[in-house]
Amino acid sequence: MSNDRAKFGSRFGLILATAGSAVGLGNIWRFPYMTGNNGGAAFILVYIGCVLLLGIPCMVSEFVIGREGASNTARAYTRLSNGTAWKYIGFMGVVTGFMITGYYAVVSGWCLQYIFASAAGELRGDPKYVADYFAGFSSSPVKPVLWTVAILVITHLVVIRGVRGGIEKASKMFMPTLFVLLLVIVVASCNLPGAGAGVEFLLKPDFSKVDSGVFLGALGQAFYSLSIGMGCLCTYASYFSRRTKLLSTAVNISLVDTMVAVLAGLMIFPSAFSVGIAPDSGPSLIFMTLPNVFQLAFGHVPFLGYVVSVLFYVLLSLAALTSLISLHEVCTAFFLEEFSISRRRGATLVTVITCVIGAFCSLSLGHTDLQVSIFGKPLFDSLDFLTGQILLPLGGLLTCLFLGWYVPKKIVKDQFTNHGTLRGALFGTYLFCVRFVCPLCILLIFLHQFGVI
Ligand code: PHE
Repeated sequence: MSNDRAKFGSRFGLILATAGSAVGLGNIWRFPYMTGNNGGAAFILVYIGCVLLLGIPCMVSEFVIGREGASNTARAYTRLSNGTAWKYIGFMGVVTGFMITGYYAVVSGWCLQYIFASAAGELRGDPKYVADYFAGFSSSPVKPVLWTVAILVITHLVVIRGVRGGIEKASKMFMPTLFVLLLVIVVASCNLPGAGAGVEFLLKPDFSKVDSGVFLGALGQAFYSLSIGMGCLCTYASYFSRRTKLLSTAVNISLVDTMVAVLAGLMIFPSAFSVGIAPDSGPSLIFMTLPNVFQLAFGHVPFLGYVVSVLFYVLLSLAALTSLISLHEVCTAFFLEEFSISRRRGATLVTVITCVIGAFCSLSLGHTDLQVSIFGKPLFDSLDFLTGQILLPLGGLLTCLFLGWYVPKKIVKDQFTNHGTLRGALFGTYLFCVRFVCPLCILLIFLHQFGVI
């Protein structure tokens, strides 16, 4: 396979870039409200179980396909499938990539707007004011579209610089900044009077709350959070060196991703509890509830409320940006290799297409003539549902079946053990998970979603 293919420059850079794909709005926005709605610590424990049993094996599988295929995700699956219908899994990944990028960029754009709005003090007011502010802003026809385009242009500027000079370098800058910001806000939040109740909610499990819904919610969350099922991990793995240890890389990335999610909980719940706001307000938590929480919780020191708010939205934007970069790269790598064009051209095409999708997503939440809806729901909601609830789990399911049952075991083992240089003691367990445990769990998610169980 081609040796001149771009590679990550260091193990540290590779882990940060891949963790950057995983760490995103899923950790800081989705995980806390899922935890809040599903009983706190008990949910976290079930979630960790799902990451170990399902997340890590699926992640390793995408790594195997990416490094063995040594090309964009569509071609990697095509190579390993010898032209059979399995190749369509790779193409499905690219299409999913475009769809997620479109709506994810809209939410990322909101984060950028909130940095400026909180710095300018526009988010100060009672809870109704903050909620109205969000409703007014997100449905307006111009501003959110401009922010969507802005974040996609920033992503573009990173991706055109290539794997080492763009993606890896940006991740080395953004990810450590993100960790520092996270820790600063966690410490501030946990030191508030009355914060103990929030910490307890997060760390003391109540198993009476665990039912099948909690279990399946955790499974879906693990998928989304680890970026499994659409070729991001596969594309990044095509830039791994022959010496990269796939299993330990997957374990490290899952660890970082889970730690960030739990820390995000430790940032949000203690402040919410300290001002008596329920942590189960759902998806609106970060844009409608939090500005108020920060204001109330830190309002006793002049400007501290502003500072924490600004830092929080910078953190959120960085997390979103590193995920967007990986989504963009899946599509860019596809164009540049399949149509033999330059990276700059490929990336430009992707940026233009995703700006159009993003603009329509944003407009679908407003009240103009351009409000596109699919299946009776705004385009934004339909893409969110279609990708998160259907295409990602489906991509994961098909990948496990493909790798577990179709791809020759020798290829999988060679990749898993770096051609025999590692012992591969866990190979049997891994293969068992990929063949039986993962497909079964994902099928359960589907049956649950369609109300069969
Ligand atoms: N993992 C990202 C997050 O947690 C979302 C994502 C999903 C990114 C799929 C890429 C691919 O926000």
